[in-house]
Amino acid sequence: MQRVFSGIQPSGGSTLGNYLGAIRNWVKLQDDHDCIFCVVDLHAITTWQDPAALRQQSLEMAAVVLACGVDPARHILFLQSTVRAHAQLAWIFNCVARLGWLNRMTQFKDKAGKDRESASSGLYVYPNLMAADIHAYHATRVPVGDDQRQHLELANDIAQKFNHDYGVDFFPNIEPVILATGARVMSLRDGTKKMSKSDPSDQSRINLSDDADTIALKIRRAKTDPMPLPSEVEELADRPEARNLVGIYAALTDSDPASVLNEHAGQGFGPFKNALTELLVTKLAPIASETNRLLSDQGALTDLLRSGAERAAAIADPIVNEAERLVGFVGLRKS
Ligand code: TRP
Repeated sequence: MQRVFSGIQPSGGSTLGNYLGAIRNWVKLQDDHDCIFCVVDLHAITTWQDPAALRQQSLEMAAVVLACGVDPARHILFLQSTVRAHAQLAWIFNCVARLGWLNRMTQFKDKAGKDRESASSGLYVYPNLMAADIHAYHATRVPVGDDQRQHLELANDIAQKFNHDYGVDFFPNIEPVILATGARVMSLRDGTKKMSKSDPSDQSRINLSDDADTIALKIRRAKTDPMPLPSEVEELADRPEARNLVGIYAALTDSDPASVLNEHAGQGFGPFKNALTELLVTKLAPIASETNRLLSDQGALTDLLRSGAERAAAIADPIVNEAERLVGFVGLRKS
């Protein structure tokens, strides 16, 4: 079985975008892969995080992942900072990756914004840490959203340069797993922007903790256009908001936009939004209640995460020890 690694940021609540774009795909991969899933708190602090909030959000994100159906008995779920190997390998990768490579990363440019001088150096080397996350486990398949594709290419460049420089065939090539449906859930207010927990408007997203009334209101207010739903997918090309709602509907029903249009062509957005709301409430309500149940017993949750960290470290430590030996460290540390 191929090994899957993926990570999710704990910053600030989880959205429908996280569910359809990431976690739901993780759940599907569990059947025929060996999976390691990680809440990436080390990545989170590349931008400022209030410590108490970070602690709470990391546990919440772990609970959400479990509530969505990740099975900690068959696979591994843990918090990134609890396994030292990530930071250790990231340091080596900081010395492998070239400044020129990092300068091309579009996410850094977006996140740093205009005031680049005051961005943290962690934000700049963020992709090196992400490469370390994956390579510390010799994982070969990585489910991510389309926006992370460039980071995976960088992770492959790092592996190749490491192998080349040290004359080994140690780090394998990574294959992105970018699933078509639901891979991109966009803002409900602007169909050209990704649905994000950092958007100042709560109306722009469905949170996995939203109750039925909130979901109904947000979908009712979601931006659309005055035309009815078309019969062909091509006709959605210039209608980003319509395309987004159809995409969400398709992802939630495990179908595709063409079948959704088959069923709803000619309908106005009123009835379509009602159907979408019902679907969302049916799918998300059980996730919200299971998340709350898991969070109500933090002792059980932290035990589960501690065991995940031990199992993760048992895989990563020997690999990172070997990488350290390859670069020429004497290696007297007891493992
Ligand atoms: N950068 C990823 C994101 O923002 C999260 C992430 C961190 C990740 N490490 C990873 C994803 C390793 C896949 C593999 O979505």
